[in-house]
Parts: sequence; C-alpha cells; structure tokens
Amino acid sequence: MADSNKSTKEISPAVIKRLPRYYRYLGELKENEVSRISSKELSQRMQVTASQIRQDLNNFGGFGQQGYGYNVEHLHAEIGKILGLDKINNLIIIGAGNLGQALANYQHFEPNGFRILGLFDVNPRLVGITVRGVEVYDIDTLEDFIKNHDIKIAALTLPKQMAPEMAREMVDWGIKAFWNFAPVDLNLPEDIMVENVHLAESLMTLSYRIHSTEV
Ligand code: NAI
Repeated sequence: MADSNKSTKEISPAVIKRLPRYYRYLGELKENEVSRISSKELSQRMQVTASQIRQDLNNFGGFGQQGYGYNVEHLHAEIGKILGLDKINNLIIIGAGNLGQALANYQHFEPNGFRILGLFDVNPRLVGITVRGVEVYDIDTLEDFIKNHDIKIAALTLPKQMAPEMAREMVDWGIKAFWNFAPVDLNLPEDIMVENVHLAESLMTLSYRIHSTEV
C-alpha cells in the first residue's frame, strides 16, 4: 500500500490505523459536550496506554498541554485534517449488487466528507435505479464519468474475476485509490493506494481465536 499524502509520509502505518479510532472517540466526546480530556482518561476509555496516545499524537506535533490535557474539539478537528476528512472525498462504487447497495445505503460516510457520486454495473436491470438518491449507471459510461468528475476513490464490489482488470483500467482513467472488497489481490502500480476490506478474513481470525483457546 502506498501513501502519497505529504503530511503522513513518515508516519508509521500502525499509527495511521489508530487515528480513525481516536477520531471516533473524540467525536463521541464532542457529542457529549466534553471539552477537554487528559491522556489518562482517554487511555482508560480507549483501552490504549496513555503513553501510546502521547506518542501517537506527538507524531503530529502533540496537541496536548501539560496539566490541561487535550482540547477535544481541536484534537478532533486536527485528526480529521490529518485523515483528510476536512475535504470532500468523492467516490464511486463498482458493482451495484448486495454489497455495493449496502455501502450506498450507509448514511454515515457523508458526515465524514465521503460523497458517493454513483454506482456502476453491467446489469441493465440495475441501471437507472437509485439507492438512497445515488444513481446506478451503466458501466460503459464509467470512463467518461471518471474523467469528468473529481474522483480519486473507487470501491470495488464486483465479482473478483473482474476486479483486477477493471481496477487497472480505472487507474488509466485517473483513479488513485481503491477500497477493495473483492477477495483478490489487485497488483496495481506502487503509487496506487489499496485498502482491502475482507470480512471473511476477519471472521477467520475470530474462528482461530475461538478454537485456539479450546482444549
Ligand atoms: P452481487 O452478485 O450481489 O453483486 C455483484 C454486482 O457486480 C452485480 O450486480 C453484477 O451485475 C456486478 N458486476 C459484474 N461484473 C461487473 C463489471 N465488470 N463491472 C461492474 N459491475 C459488475 O455480489 P455481492 O454479494 O454484492 O458481492 C460483490 C463482491 O464483493 C464479490 O466479489 C464478493 O466476493 C465481495 N464481497 C466481499 C466482502 C468483504 O468482506 N470484502 C463481503 C461480501 C462480498
């Protein structure tokens, strides 16, 4: 996985992976009108050590003040900026079947700046329908659509046999990042970002943990 974001260049992937969780906790604190929090309290809530929190946030220049703790709203906003959530991130979904439609139906991407511009499918029966206001377009219109919109991210929810070739084509048309749900390795150029999401793998890990504790 490559990362071309300047502000996160030297930050380890492990830290980047933890940031969305900080962001979520701070968002909840904000909703509950908590205005500041010490790293100790945050660590208790998140079950991460206070020193881990300090180390993680020091990667971005701190944000905490000795004896005061963290300003929740400020820290939430700053982590949001680091994650690029202060900008609109347009995305498209390739494959408007069960999973593609489920993603389009999820309401909580927009508040974080993710805007789904369209779903694309080969099935003429799906073309023209809307899912929560997002239209399903014919896959044949994809190239023009990408070239005429500011879209960097594509979610892949099509059959795995089609995913790698489709992704390569989309790279030629300008897509920079894939949220890949198809259970296949995409093997794209180094500068293209891929985030694989495989529910089955996570379930297998759970299965391993259940069975490894059995005697
Ligand atoms: P589905 O069969 O309901 O939907 C697939 C859709 O892709 C269909 O509407 C089909 O017409 C469309 N399609 C086929 N070829 C296409 C192409 N070349 N371009 C655009 N659209 C095309 O399948 P479902 O359940 O939604 O799964 C979709 C994909 O996501 C599969 O690869 C499946 O293995 C994967 N999946 C991954 C999960 C994960 O955790 N990563 C969980 C569930 C499914």
